[in-house]
Amino acid sequence: MDALRDSIEPSEPVTPGDRPPRLGRVPLVDNTVGMLRDPLGFYDRAGDHAADVVGYNVAGTTGYFVCHPDLVERVLVTDAASYEKGALLRRSLGRFIGEGLFLLEGEEWREQRTALQPAFFRERIAAYGETMTDFAARTAAEWSDGQRLDVRPHMQSLTLDILGKTLLDVDIETTADALEPLLDALRHRLDPRSLSAYLPLWVPTKTNRAVTRSLADFQATLDEVVAARRREDDAARDQRDDVLSLLLSLGEETMDRERLGHQLLTFLVAGHDTTALTLTYAWLLLANDPDAQGRLHDELDDVVGDRRPTPDDLFDLPYLDAVLNEVLRLYPPAFTVFRQPTEPVTLGGYDISPGAQLTLPQWLVHRDERWYDEPDAFRPERWIDGLEAALPDYAYYPFGGGPRHCIGMRFARMEAKLALATIAREYAVEAVTEPPLSLAMQITLSPTEPVEVRVRER
Ligand code: HEM
Repeated sequence: MDALRDSIEPSEPVTPGDRPPRLGRVPLVDNTVGMLRDPLGFYDRAGDHAADVVGYNVAGTTGYFVCHPDLVERVLVTDAASYEKGALLRRSLGRFIGEGLFLLEGEEWREQRTALQPAFFRERIAAYGETMTDFAARTAAEWSDGQRLDVRPHMQSLTLDILGKTLLDVDIETTADALEPLLDALRHRLDPRSLSAYLPLWVPTKTNRAVTRSLADFQATLDEVVAARRREDDAARDQRDDVLSLLLSLGEETMDRERLGHQLLTFLVAGHDTTALTLTYAWLLLANDPDAQGRLHDELDDVVGDRRPTPDDLFDLPYLDAVLNEVLRLYPPAFTVFRQPTEPVTLGGYDISPGAQLTLPQWLVHRDERWYDEPDAFRPERWIDGLEAALPDYAYYPFGGGPRHCIGMRFARMEAKLALATIAREYAVEAVTEPPLSLAMQITLSPTEPVEVRVRER
């Protein structure tokens, strides 16, 4: 493994004034067309470049893929103060979640992050364990031996139920009715292949109209939820410790209607589909690898036996942990992190101007053969064989890093492992859909076709 560390060195010597290699002969045209036609293929072309900083120009925006772990660390951690989320994210998401934790900057972000952090402390999250396994057991109870399933919708309802109960404590049926159409419309609006991704919301495309309509419905539902909360007496309010209560406790001046809507939508968007996709990809990969699935079943049988898994069991389930790591490596639901420098910076020896769009793609770094043997293979055991200690820090960052790392990471990891363990105790999955998948880069890395497995009672 030391050999792996030694191989981390700048790819080419760079002299001052050099410009990074660029994608395409006429980037504005080649790159814009490439991104519109096949965003994933466009990313892959940057990966094929064998350079750590690769320039592009999509729709007039100058950008750089940053593909070396050391440079990712520089941007996310060491020099985090010189970067912000940037214009692209604000333009596409600001109208919906601009006042939420994901997009706020500076002092406002710090205040909100500090206020919300207690909902994600280790002990608090452990207390959610039972809700997570209850809902997972309910999902398993709806399945039957031999059934062929499109797993993603099942995982979406599961993670939404869990999020609704644990973080918001709301009637999630009603909220889901309002949320799903909005998420669907947003996925289309943010898909780089869709025309609406490049147009302001007021242009009346079909997608934009769907977004505006569903946003109004969602806001109306939230207004009802919040009004009901505000009517509660102090005793009932003191009993609650969910994210919604923390937000409401900040008072109406700090947390006005718009900001509250943006915060709640942030948590629903960030916490729901990401975890549902992780579980979907996990079932797909396990179904297609009977050996890995067998090893997981053996571990669960040994440690958990016939009872429900608990958060404490997770310390004794290293293979389950390795499965989750490997799923998030191969199919990171957050396929990239975007940043924009607020001042002139140097990266990999190249001068980068403020305002340039930086793309730090987990999709490429997690499959780079400099860090991973057989990078496209699903091999959970690589995480047991000591890989983690040997990897450069930011060769693996499914939850981002630095001050803006995912606040829900611990929650998501526990939820995914408890859901997998609960369901895998009862069912084995057999392959129907086989990788490689056809994937779209929407808000998250999403399959474009149903991901099907056949379930067998164990
Ligand atoms: C497998 C599941 C998940 C993945 C892969 C994931 C990934 C990420 C990543 C990469 C970031 C950093 C983005 C950036 O730096 O620009 C992030 C931020 C964030 N995530 Fe997650 N996430 C997951 C689950 C969750 C859950 C369950 C929640 C909430 C319950 C959540 C809430 C958030 C929030 C609020 C932020 C913004 C934090 C800030 O800027 O302070 N995420 N997530």
